Amino acid sequence: MDMNIGVIKGDGIGPEIVDEAMKVLDKTAEVYGHQIEYTQLLMGGASIDVNGVPLTEETLEQAKKSDAVLMGSIGGDAKTSPWYRLEPSKRPEAGLLQLRKGLNLFANLRPAVLYSELKGACPLKEEIAEQGFDMMIMRELTGGLYFGKRSTEEEDGVLVARDELTYSETEIRRIAKRGFDIAMKRWKKVTSVDKANVLDSSRLWRKIVEEVAKEYPEVTLEHMLVDNAAMQLVKDPAQFDVILTENMFGDILSDEASMVTGSIGMLASASLNDTKFGLYEPSGGSASDIAGKGIANPIATILSAAMMLRYSFDLDQEADAIEAAVEKVLEEGYRTIDIMSEGMTQIGTKEMGERICSYI
Ligand code: IPM
Ligand code: MG
Repeated sequence: MDMNIGVIKGDGIGPEIVDEAMKVLDKTAEVYGHQIEYTQLLMGGASIDVNGVPLTEETLEQAKKSDAVLMGSIGGDAKTSPWYRLEPSKRPEAGLLQLRKGLNLFANLRPAVLYSELKGACPLKEEIAEQGFDMMIMRELTGGLYFGKRSTEEEDGVLVARDELTYSETEIRRIAKRGFDIAMKRWKKVTSVDKANVLDSSRLWRKIVEEVAKEYPEVTLEHMLVDNAAMQLVKDPAQFDVILTENMFGDILSDEASMVTGSIGMLASASLNDTKFGLYEPSGGSASDIAGKGIANPIATILSAAMMLRYSFDLDQEADAIEAAVEKVLEEGYRTIDIMSEGMTQIGTKEMGERICSYI
């Protein structure tokens, strides 16, 4: 197969972790007989430095032309980086939001799995970690508070800030369908997370999700309030299969879920629209404090590349091979510093990438 992949290396640890994911992709292509062409794209801080804006129209067009985009991470330290002296609409994160919206990437899949080898890194009590967990957070990505009208104005001498939270039934229905489709390929359970005891947008969310559920009689649907969901994630994470939720709740819950897997450096993600196109990126941030030190964990990005092969190219066998190679390296006791525990062997970013390659 010929694959045309856009690459946004990004800021902070981005370039280091993307390099390892590209190595793993190249090795996979070599073994399974595929051709990959990469196009480097600038977004976030790296784009501000060159173009003065976090995303140009040309880059968005180039991204649209590729079959899929692999991304590292963007942004810097808000206290020290000059990028954060720009107005909010010109900062690195704005580029990411424009890219999500511009490519209509409404479905964000964030799998959170506790690998048996990493149970020791799970911060939960042993009897909870023992049970393991494997959940898929389905986060709506192009609506809600992130894309509503916002303003900060002075009213009667007092500053007032507003952020509007809007959801249409169309937006809710399309993400709900995606959630149920994915549940059909897993354990057939959807937990829809909302705040329907307070918010109108959540009451509509619940109504539409119930309508969609009727088309999937095999799937069990439950509703959970977001505050309870935050608690259940640390009390009994094994109960979850697919968590279906809106943009802001999904942002918060996916960071929480990642932490109970041991490290945010392990979490992959895929952002999809209604074609085969997808943007694949680790769930973690750019960690500028450790950038350039060669110690960042590349596994989340490598697993994101595996998701890319699975969802954008239907190459399940190749994706399985990458995931198995990651497990094998963990089984052998190799760890980057973020998932290091006693008795294991600590290695750097490059060596982790190379060891994973060697098992493909
Ligand atoms: C994420 C990040 C982004 C978000 C930021 C960088 C805008 O936290 O992908 O979860 O809030 O969506
Ligand atoms: Mg986040």
